[in-house]
Amino acid sequence: MTAAPGGREELALAKMLIDCDPGHDDAIAILFAARRCDLVGITTVHGNASLENTTRNALAICTLAGLDVPVARGCAAPLVGVATHAGDIHGRTGLDGAELPVPDRGPVEAHAVDFIIEQAERHKGELVLAVVGPQTNVALALRREPRLASWLKAITIMGGSTTIGNITPAAEFNVYADPEAAAAVFACGAPIWMVGYNVTRQTGFTQPEIDRLRAAGGGRTAAVIADLMQFYLDGQRRVFGLDIAPMHDVCAVFPFVRPELLTFVEAAVEVELAGRLTRGMTVCDLRNKRAGAPGAIQEARRPNARVAVASDARSLIAEVIDVVLAFP
Ligand code: BDR
Ligand code: CA
Repeated sequence: MTAAPGGREELALAKMLIDCDPGHDDAIAILFAARRCDLVGITTVHGNASLENTTRNALAICTLAGLDVPVARGCAAPLVGVATHAGDIHGRTGLDGAELPVPDRGPVEAHAVDFIIEQAERHKGELVLAVVGPQTNVALALRREPRLASWLKAITIMGGSTTIGNITPAAEFNVYADPEAAAAVFACGAPIWMVGYNVTRQTGFTQPEIDRLRAAGGGRTAAVIADLMQFYLDGQRRVFGLDIAPMHDVCAVFPFVRPELLTFVEAAVEVELAGRLTRGMTVCDLRNKRAGAPGAIQEARRPNARVAVASDARSLIAEVIDVVLAFP
């Protein structure tokens, strides 16, 4: 801990690698982690759009914001079946709504799976892996290097839900897009933080906040982000009837920046792989969280994750907006 100028105690910057599928909210997570963490790399995966698009989008965001962070390309398809994309929310390119710069560099040569392993070995015991897309790269890295789980400080996941889903009534998109990978990640033994749709759908930019990004005298980055967020909010209104643009992915960064803005409970989490209606659902055993629950249920299953159940949404979003406005 170090003392901040204002007297508040602040955590030392967490070393973080973001595995993502940009994606509007992924872009915000990248910008936020670049300023509030020690961001050692970005790995890309299929998800909101094709791997080609998510990789180009990650590079374009780095170019826009002047981030000198290596980007490694990962897997184009899930472990089983074919890729699912989210064009209804993120558009044809995965990042529709604004004119993005042509990337000023390409991805590094290493595949994302190797890059994750390399970085975890280099920063043994320190690296936080923020997984905010389908978990294919991470599952393959865990399979390739059995020591990986023990090298990581934590895996923080935007994925799953303790309540409703978005891609189906039961499943959240990132887990649904590769349930076999998610099952392997939840079972890997590393300390896991799950910030799911139950919390992230309520944690987003309002229309006045998007207007503020555009008008508040921020830089070009904030202006482009405002256009992107307007497209994304319009999609959320159209598809889900939500009146905020949920900042799903950045929520997974917060446990390592401002942990007090989220509330977690420890729980056993497993991924449904077989259900006709529930494939990709995260089954979170929250039965023992009820006051007075019988002892047998309390002891039934060992928790493997800290699961977010609430956020201080307005404070969290205010902090994100400050970071975006400070970019040139
Ligand atoms: C998740 O799915 C994607 O569309 C978002 O980027 C986020 O990671 C929300 O379900
Ligand atoms: Ca994402």
